[in-house]
Amino acid sequence: KTIMVLNGPNLNLLGSREPETYGNLTLPEIGKMIKEHAQNHDLNVDFRQTNHEGTLVDWIQEAGDGADGIILNAAAYTHTSVAIRDAIAAINTPVIEVHLSNVFAREEFRHHSFVSDQAAGVICGFGATGYVLAIDAFASMLRVN
Ligand code: DQA
Repeated sequence: KTIMVLNGPNLNLLGSREPETYGNLTLPEIGKMIKEHAQNHDLNVDFRQTNHEGTLVDWIQEAGDGADGIILNAAAYTHTSVAIRDAIAAINTPVIEVHLSNVFAREEFRHHSFVSDQAAGVICGFGATGYVLAIDAFASMLRVN
């Protein structure tokens, strides 16, 4: 089974971007960590990042056709994008929403997500570990090792 891990705007800057908020790992390092962890569950990971809203919509639609689950960190689009929300609503593939930071401990505008009520679940505040927890959640949801 395949999990698509989709990362939104500015997450390509991880490692140097506000490390006190987002940690020191780079996105490729996080991708490697998740792929290795997913192998323990016999899950394949397709790990991607884009700064473009429409590309996230395209990838969500693509995952709706092929993938068994989506781990989505839509970054700032989480708080703004009806298009991303509608894309999730249009597919049957389950979505787990992940944020590195605890968005509820931050600015008010980060407290609302257009994604959350369309998601199977939400993980935030645990840094890169959140992606690993989401893989574990899919492993049990999809009943693999
Ligand atoms: C984020 C939280 C968002 O509010 C922010 O815009 C991001 C990253 C996170 O992973 O903590 O870019 O999604």
